[in-house]
Amino acid sequence: MDYQQIIEEVYREVQEENLRGKVATYIPELASVNPDQFGIALVDLDGNVFGVGDYQLPFSIQSISKVHTLTMVFHVFKSKLWARVNVEPSGNPFNSIAQLEYEKGIPRNPFINAGALVITDALCSKFERPIEQISDFINELAGQTCVRINQEVKQSEQNHAARNTALGYFLKAYQNFENDVEEVLDVYFSHCAMEMSCVDLAKSFSFLANDGYSIFANREIVSESHARRINALMLTCGFYDEAGEFAFRVGLPGKSGVGGGVAAVMPHKFSIAVWSPELNEKGNSVKAIKALELLTDKLSFSLF
Ligand code: DON
Repeated sequence: MDYQQIIEEVYREVQEENLRGKVATYIPELASVNPDQFGIALVDLDGNVFGVGDYQLPFSIQSISKVHTLTMVFHVFKSKLWARVNVEPSGNPFNSIAQLEYEKGIPRNPFINAGALVITDALCSKFERPIEQISDFINELAGQTCVRINQEVKQSEQNHAARNTALGYFLKAYQNFENDVEEVLDVYFSHCAMEMSCVDLAKSFSFLANDGYSIFANREIVSESHARRINALMLTCGFYDEAGEFAFRVGLPGKSGVGGGVAAVMPHKFSIAVWSPELNEKGNSVKAIKALELLTDKLSFSLF
């Protein structure tokens, strides 16, 4: 399989379509990014890297970091975690507040903001230096020091934090939040403001394509059974109210972020990260989704 040739074809075909969306503006600092950037990096299970376009440029990974924090917390709490957060698709926008009341303070899944805040809260209960330990963990997964927290992006989100703050206090009202809300938000905004390139991001997802073992960290990160469950959550919940469409068009477990990144895995074959900042109305990158759709079409395989 000539992955390099295939991703170059995908890149060219997506560029020819001249797809447009809108960069995220609710975190004002994210709006200052060049909207035309576009990169693809694919990493196979022998560690070979295939890349095209802006695949080496760091970008804001935003919600993609929720997969890393979930991995850390799931490993510690095991199945006890599911008493605090559910594993169902939400069918609602990622920052929905209304749903949390219907669900009596148990977020629908760990990737919507309410669920990710519960995960970060759990992480703060078990890790003494959470921000540093999340960075260290992602660096280890990528096999090198690559994560940088963009303080301007973090500050910008902190200045527009009303919704996430409301979610934190709402969770607290349902006794589903152990730590100080502002302290947990600080950690949450820090991991959302982490920047890395497509190639490092793809490497950091490699263990999910490899039954939980990272060839870059040279160790088992999670058990095979946990890796399968994280992949199942990405498939059903990784794109919020567009998860069904992503499964339909692409057919891979994946996770998006409002920085325009998407990371995905083809179990037992490869991990991939695609980035382009312009988003559709559901908050997912227009070009990244198109690229992954073309990729699985050209490969003639997906999870299905
Ligand atoms: O909490 C937020 O709204 C952002 N830091 C992350 C949201 C996000 O990336 C949603 N993904 N598509």
